[in-house]
Amino acid sequence: MSITEKKSGEEITILAIESSCDETAASVVRGGRTVLSNVISSQIDIHTLYGGVVPEIASRKHTERINQVIRQGLSEAGMELEDMDAIAVTYGPGLVGPLLIGVSAAKAISFATGIPLVGVHHIEGHSCANYIAAPELEPPFVCLVVSGGHTHLVLVKDYGKYEILGRTQDDAAGEAFDKVAREIGLGYPGGPKIDRVSREGDPRAIDFPRGKVSGSAYDFSFSGMKSSVLNYLNTCRMKNIEVNVPDVAASFQQAVVDVLVTHAMRAVDEYGLTRLALAGGVASNTALRAAMRSACEERGVEFFCPPPILCTDNAAMIGCAAYYEFMQGVRSGYDLNAKPGLRLGDR
Ligand code: KG4
Ligand code: ZN
Repeated sequence: MSITEKKSGEEITILAIESSCDETAASVVRGGRTVLSNVISSQIDIHTLYGGVVPEIASRKHTERINQVIRQGLSEAGMELEDMDAIAVTYGPGLVGPLLIGVSAAKAISFATGIPLVGVHHIEGHSCANYIAAPELEPPFVCLVVSGGHTHLVLVKDYGKYEILGRTQDDAAGEAFDKVAREIGLGYPGGPKIDRVSREGDPRAIDFPRGKVSGSAYDFSFSGMKSSVLNYLNTCRMKNIEVNVPDVAASFQQAVVDVLVTHAMRAVDEYGLTRLALAGGVASNTALRAAMRSACEERGVEFFCPPPILCTDNAAMIGCAAYYEFMQGVRSGYDLNAKPGLRLGDR
């Protein structure tokens, strides 16, 4: 019998690595929900110069930083590699170059030490951030994952069992925030800037359309909403009307929030669930959190949302997701590869 098999679930300790976009992150997680360290090295300053994430630069920065970040993750937890029961890593979806850096590092550590390897789905990780923030949370629940690359409305049926109810047909919610922010001169990353400036604006000032996808109650479309903001700005320019940036930001944000809340509440009602969780970078949006919380309260639905540090990309959420996979016997081989288009539920 191996050492791992003798341990109880609470003792299982996992080193997790995340590098799917522009954050190099490492974390040590014990028993799935106890975070012993959570190191995040953000590249935001570099990508801000280009108005968005440049994949080639992101890959190079991950290569430079990953060893130090992993070392720091272990030392902040007061642990050594030999204390780990598994090495977890995000292997998709995400940017292929950045994913490969994390996957290669995890495989090298696993190969050198013999510690089992567990490949983790990035979106599953975002959803699992809620388990860390709320130790009492158990499936089933509806999870709305809204980030820079993804917008998924997910039915979390059980640990590791997901059904995607809806997804974006074009831009992700965060991508729409980032593009609109650039157009109104707020810069990158747009989400937090729109969030901040919207507090001084009127969310009812401009009636931007609430994007719909015909034939689907749960899918999302944000590119039309983004285009209508661009049209509005062009019209103002042509007519020499001064643009009220806080009003445009607040009205756009309100349109996105309305759509997200309507879809999430439809799912909760239809599936008769009593818990709703938010996840992903856009889940830090103050207007979204407030609107979702009050919609949940109206229905007697329990609302969950991780703190901002667990909403944006981090490795603690990957360690948590890996724990539930590991306990179900999931192990990855040394042929684990980066899968940029990995779908939830696929291996
Ligand atoms: O989850 P995340 O760190 O990376 C991906 O997996 O994509 O999400 C980053 C996205 C960016 O688009 C950023 O603008 C958005 O999350 N974001 C926000 C806020 N904070 C981050 N969007 C709206 N309001 C915020 N407060
Ligand atoms: Zn993410």
